[in-house]
Formats: sequence, structure tokens, C-alpha cells
Amino acid sequence: VKPRPTTDEYRQVIGHFASGVTIVTSLRDGEPFGTTANAVSSLSLDPPMLLVCMNQESSTGQAIAATGRFAVNILHEGQAQLATHFATKAADKFEQVPYVVGERGNPLLPEALATLECEVVDEIAAGTHSVYLAEVNTAEASAGAPLAYFRGRFGRLEVAGG
Ligand SMILES: Cc1cc2nc3c(=O)[nH]c(=O)nc-3n(C[C@H](O)[C@H](O)[C@H](O)COP(=O)(O)O)c2cc1C
Repeated sequence: VKPRPTTDEYRQVIGHFASGVTIVTSLRDGEPFGTTANAVSSLSLDPPMLLVCMNQESSTGQAIAATGRFAVNILHEGQAQLATHFATKAADKFEQVPYVVGERGNPLLPEALATLECEVVDEIAAGTHSVYLAEVNTAEASAGAPLAYFRGRFGRLEVAGG
């Protein structure tokens, strides 16, 4: 039997699963938090539900735990720089990034390809992360192409046949 993959081996292999890129946000006591996240998945269509996996050390994850709500901002292909910006620990990530507060009280990035406001219904601790299962209360999308993430790099999605 092979030994379990090390952290680095696992990261290298799971990085072959291509994804989109989001900025998950939450507003805690009037202060916006946000982090780049690709561990995001749709969960149920009826009722509409999704899940996000947040490192327990993420300040955004902690804001979600405290408020019970968050938004998923799906990035378009021109927003790789924003993804890098929100993948840091800076305390003032929103200083140069405009946002609006959505009708459910979450910070929304107006330029995003799509935004969804969510309410946490369950939290599951697993390894280093917490999984937040949530109902989707609002969902809006605009025209455009998504930012992609594959093997540690940002890129564009090539549509088959097109
Ligand atoms: C492409 C990409 C995807 C990421 N996905 C996640 C994720 O799904 N969950 C997570 O907790 N961190 C993820 N991170 C790491 C966080 O963005 C990073 O730890 C950030 O500094 C956390 O900031 P915060 O503590 O202010 O919330 C990702 C980073 C990148 C570059």
C-alpha cells in the first residue's frame, strides 16, 4: 500500500481539478471581509443551496461564523489581480475595492460576473477547514466569461467548439 500523499503531493494532484474563482465576503459589525475562494460548490437546486470551505484561520470564515451570512462573488476573466489581492491577509483589502451592500446585508463586488447572497444553515468542521452549507437568497449574473484556476495559475476557459 502506498503511503498517504503529503500535503504538497495532495495540493499538486488536486490542483488538476480546474475551477472558477470567487471572492467570498461577509459584513461583520459594518466591516467588510473578503477572501479568494475556489472551494465553492453548488449543493442543491430546490431549495437553492451552495457550500463554501473556509480555513478556520480565515478572518472571512470567522466573520461568516459570527454573522451567519455571506456572499459569493464569481469573478470574470479580467479579475485575476483582484483574486490575488483578496488571497492576502491585509486588513484593508477593501480600501481600494468598491463594494455595495446587497439587500441581504453582504458586500457585493459590482463588477463580478455573478453574485449570490447566502444564509448559513449548517457548519461542519473538517480538518483545517469549516464547511458552511447555505441557502441562496439572491442570485444575479451578468454577461461575460469566467476567471479559471488550474494547477496554481489563473487563466481563461476555452469553450469547446467555439
Ligand atoms: C485561487 C485561490 C483559491 C483559494 N480558495 C480558498 C478557499 O476555498 N478557502 C479558503 O479558506 N482559502 C482559500 N484561499 C486562500 C485564502 O484566500 C487566503 O488564505 C486569504 O489570505 C484568507 O484571507 P482572510 O483571512 O482575510 O479571510 C484561496 C487562495 C487562492 C489564491
